[in-house]
Amino acid sequence: MPATSMDQLVSLCKRRGFIFQNADIYGGMQGLYDYGPLGVELKNNVKAAWWRSMVYERDDIEGLDAAILTNRKVLHYSGHEDTFADPMTDCRKCKGRFRADHIKDGKCPNCGSTDLTEPRPFNLMFKTTVGPIDNAENIAYLRPETAQAIFTQFRNVVDSTSRKLPFGIAQIGKSFRNEITPRNFIFRVREFEHMEMEYFVKPGEDEQWHKYWIENRVKWWEDQGLRRDRFRLYEQQPDELAHYAKACYDIEYQFPHGMEELEGIANRRDYDLGNHTKGQEEFKLEAHCHENHESTQKLCMKDEQTGEAFIPFVIEPSVGLDRAVLALLTEAYTEEDLGNGNSRIVLKLKKHLAPIKVAVIPLKKNNEQIMAKCHEIKKNLLKLGIGRVALENTGNIGKAYRRHDEVGTPICITVDFETIEQQPESVTIRDRDTMEQHRVNIADLPAYLREYFNN
Ligand code: GAP
Repeated sequence: MPATSMDQLVSLCKRRGFIFQNADIYGGMQGLYDYGPLGVELKNNVKAAWWRSMVYERDDIEGLDAAILTNRKVLHYSGHEDTFADPMTDCRKCKGRFRADHIKDGKCPNCGSTDLTEPRPFNLMFKTTVGPIDNAENIAYLRPETAQAIFTQFRNVVDSTSRKLPFGIAQIGKSFRNEITPRNFIFRVREFEHMEMEYFVKPGEDEQWHKYWIENRVKWWEDQGLRRDRFRLYEQQPDELAHYAKACYDIEYQFPHGMEELEGIANRRDYDLGNHTKGQEEFKLEAHCHENHESTQKLCMKDEQTGEAFIPFVIEPSVGLDRAVLALLTEAYTEEDLGNGNSRIVLKLKKHLAPIKVAVIPLKKNNEQIMAKCHEIKKNLLKLGIGRVALENTGNIGKAYRRHDEVGTPICITVDFETIEQQPESVTIRDRDTMEQHRVNIADLPAYLREYFNN
């Protein structure tokens, strides 16, 4: 179990600018967090790694970026309006509202009263109205998952890309859930980013593809730096499955607060495409669009041999980016004893995830010649496209190293008097993990760093 505690992570995230409580100056808002200067870089790097493995490195997956505001019909036919709910019990005495499964011995967890209502379903979707008139016809929702737009755009993607089965559609974007008990920092929040991929397959081939995607996702997490003995697979029991799922495996990670779900990999069968096909027909009948009835988009594929239409099954790996960030920070956070009563905090993130790739540090603050060289080095390194290169001007090299260890910067480059006084021009390179330092000629820096970051 990682020794990292939630308090250590929360403190580091605030101190170094990864994650802040939303609306902090007004006391915050439960279940909402803002990502600071380094948090946004880390998130972007995780998204890039996911997108690369899902879309760029494969030939069978396309991308999508759909609207967040969602037509009520979509979430009606997806089943979310009726079933995406937690049973809740109200306490008549203290007016608290609690998840029914959190009530023990029939007593209110807050005040102990037994004067409780029967459990009633509480829908987790955020409802809003679109346009100036606040009536039932204008109700829309903030999407609770990105998946639904993938299903409703299925026909458009197939027609515009000529895809044949099996193929997938990937999407990264915000989702919203009015969680009753947001908790454990960014683990359970009310606004989060989803990274979801729907992989469409022939019915009958779904179980083998489900196995394939479980193995694929386990390998991906290992590639991001999670140690295999800190996460496990959990097969959901029939009473735990979402309304659409035939089967689901969770990848559970040893978070600071316990072993909990990091990602779900579900077999959603033909539930969503089937329901949206049926939904369109009902919608047209209801709206008296009989003449348009023929134009219903059948969300199906044709069997190439028999010509018969069928609705594909779907395998869905779905992970919350915020949970991914929490797992990666938990794994990377290390306190090292350096001997003689000294220690350091170092964030051992894989280099492709590190928010800052290279820090260029002048040995002396505000020295014109040294600073000019630092700017020149930074400008040249940016051309490599390795990510963020930061320039420090603090003048305290020890503090700069400590700060960059804490935020996981893999390489620090120090520019000193030798750099500007001796030929060939050279700098000191310091490695975050080994703390080893050696001299590299400036002319060799691009090749050195290209090799380092490409490996
Ligand atoms: N489309 C399927 C789906 O949304 P889910 O099990 O409800 O399935 C998938 O969510 C993943 O989304 C979870 O494994 C988790 O990583 C993330 N997630 C769900 N609710 C979350 C919340 N309130 N806060 C942060 N992440 C959440």
